[in-house]
Amino acid sequence: MIASLPPPVSQSVASRLTRAAIFLVVTINPGASPERAVRSLCGDMSSLLRGVGFRNLNGQLSCIMGFGSHAWDRLFGQAAPKHLHPFREINGVHRAVSTPGDILFHIRAASMDLCFELATHIMSRLSGAVSAVDEVHGFKFFDDRDLLGFVDGTENPVDQAALAATLIGDEDPDFAGGSYVIVQKYLHDLERWNKVPVEEQENIVGRHKLSDIEQPDALKKPYAHNVLTSIEEDGEPLQILRDNMPFGEVGKGEFGTYFIGYARSPERIERMLENMFIGNPPGTYDRLLDFSRAVTGTLFFVPAASFLDGVDANQPPPDAAGEVAASTEAKTAPAAKSTTHGSLGIGSLKDEAAQ
Ligand code: HEM
Repeated sequence: MIASLPPPVSQSVASRLTRAAIFLVVTINPGASPERAVRSLCGDMSSLLRGVGFRNLNGQLSCIMGFGSHAWDRLFGQAAPKHLHPFREINGVHRAVSTPGDILFHIRAASMDLCFELATHIMSRLSGAVSAVDEVHGFKFFDDRDLLGFVDGTENPVDQAALAATLIGDEDPDFAGGSYVIVQKYLHDLERWNKVPVEEQENIVGRHKLSDIEQPDALKKPYAHNVLTSIEEDGEPLQILRDNMPFGEVGKGEFGTYFIGYARSPERIERMLENMFIGNPPGTYDRLLDFSRAVTGTLFFVPAASFLDGVDANQPPPDAAGEVAASTEAKTAPAAKSTTHGSLGIGSLKDEAAQ
């Protein structure tokens, strides 16, 4: 009888929101050796996290590692998550740009020292193998407000609802426990925004500014942010999990919101973006975008933590994958061949070496 496999262990996608975060997007340099360095880090990520996180047990340190579609093919071969593709630019009333990124590190903690320390270790492990294309250090502003002055995150799903919104289930069994994430860095024109009367700002967001209470549905404007981002399928709301963070450089006059949204399918985030940038109906777009410009946009797949643990640094490049997968299969016990545990058996070579 074949023993049943333990369910995949997810990365901490739905962990509690924290006071500090680093959003680090890198591209992988050309060649096989950078790919090996990245795969080697995948296998060691959980140990690195434990090493840094244990220094402050109340520090809530976590790190999500996500991969762009091109990077996925380079690192792990042909079998790709069903809905992984490059971020699709949207040209509506406003433009959602698509920008490069092979790996996202979303590092969260109660304080920036932990985020900074982990980011430093990650980049020293990947020295010469990757190039940083964007790095944002986010902080929580008063009452969890964004720099536009509104509380941001209130309607996020929590607990079981957060897991249901973000983690892949039977719809893509080989990648169960994984998730998708879209990031966009927005820069605000605060000078113009602050000249908009508060009542109209509230119409744009769909909530009251001071109290954070939602406007009654009957009074919400069709262009309100919370109208355009509330979507349904078969009468059921389609939710995502956001962990936006303010960031900025006062001396440069830069004030921004780093948008990060996790979901079990990128399609629901893409629908929200279309509603915001093109409008629903077209033309009824999100007025927040008159004051906020998206300067990056990238989609990543977040594999299960158990997948990362099983990655072998010496996994061959994709073109040789078929050959080696066949030889690996011959040596692997039947239970380890199942792909439904989220590791795709990629760790099997490493496991054997360890025996
Ligand atoms: C400039 C960037 C953005 C800012 C400043 C912003 C701000 C806000 C604020 C203040 C709220 C109301 C409080 C809350 O429920 O969190 C909100 C809600 C929400 N936002 Fe955004 N947001 C931004 C971009 C986005 C993007 C790009 C998406 C999705 C693609 C999105 C999706 C949502 C959703 C789903 C809600 C909850 C709506 C509801 O159920 O009431 N936001 N956002």
